[in-house]
Amino acid sequence: MRAKIIGTGSCLPDKIVTNDALSALVDTSDEWIQSRTGICGRHLVSAEHETTLSMAVKAGQAALTDAGILPQQLDLILVATVSSDFMTPSTACMVQKELGASHAAAFDINAACSGFLFALNTVDAYFQAGIYQTALIIGVETLSKLIDWSDRSTCVLFGDGAGAAVAKASEEGMIASLQGSDGSGGDILVCRNRSNNNPYIHTGTELDYLFMDGQEVFKFAVKKEPECIQALLQQAGMQPADVDYYLLHQANYRIIASIARKLKLPLEKFPSNVSHCGNTSAASIPILLDEVNKKGMLPKDSLILLSGFGAGLTWGAALLKW
Ligand code: COA
Repeated sequence: MRAKIIGTGSCLPDKIVTNDALSALVDTSDEWIQSRTGICGRHLVSAEHETTLSMAVKAGQAALTDAGILPQQLDLILVATVSSDFMTPSTACMVQKELGASHAAAFDINAACSGFLFALNTVDAYFQAGIYQTALIIGVETLSKLIDWSDRSTCVLFGDGAGAAVAKASEEGMIASLQGSDGSGGDILVCRNRSNNNPYIHTGTELDYLFMDGQEVFKFAVKKEPECIQALLQQAGMQPADVDYYLLHQANYRIIASIARKLKLPLEKFPSNVSHCGNTSAASIPILLDEVNKKGMLPKDSLILLSGFGAGLTWGAALLKW
């Protein structure tokens, strides 16, 4: 049995922050941001009740409603995130409590922007092994709390939000998947955790924010992601044109356009929401999936390819029949 997605949901914070609004905070401009990234605005949390957990729960509930599945029917909840509200319990366990999904095992996955794909692949592996049959997969981030809001090279790029999918063990659905990691390249996209100040060591109390070598990440993305997609298509015995839609990690429209060029495909096959969401890391692919699904763009038997890359370094792809 393979993972078949039977429902999607998403949640974006109410507050929309435009490029012009950011220009009042740091030395940047709408023209610079749009021309380098395709980003026009992003949603950011702006109230105490908007948290990683609250967005995950709303997206999860929406996906369950869309799938016609009750929380009690879930036997697995996976949450992909690098921005949990708590180090423990996991966001997945907190979502389980909020939803009342009392029969589910729940845990988080940290694979940065590739997290939703790693979670989907994990669910698919559990289904193939016959261990679980019904799973909720959530990608959620409050990246705005990891960002140095005085660093123009990163603060203009990211946004907050959550996306979710319900997957059921089925005869069809996932056709092929790939994932990979290269820890040796991890220092180009980093966010340190809290320091250790136990009685035997003092490593400082300063907070550390997200650091990114943008050009190196760009080079990694435009090389690794098309390679990963080509390898996946080869594994499935398909040509790039056979796929109806490519739902790629929404980091930068120039990266998406570069991949479309490398695959010799029209941009129409690459739906994008980076202009109004920015980069929402693990949430980006499921938010886009929900948008495309709710627009009615995925008739039964559509072929979609999800793919992304991120810190770690990590990358992944999944080819699915809808
Ligand atoms: N506004 C205005 N100028 C800015 C700026 C901003 N927000 N951020 C950086 N700059 C400046 C730089 O200081 C630099 O100025 P200098 O030439 O005087 O030194 C200039 O713009 C060019 O910077 P550079 O870093 O070379 O720009 P770039 O064309 O590489 O674009 C990124 C920067 C971040 C948009 C691009 O590298 C990128 O998209 N990388 C991938 C990021 C990514 O996908 N991250 C997520 C991974 S999951």
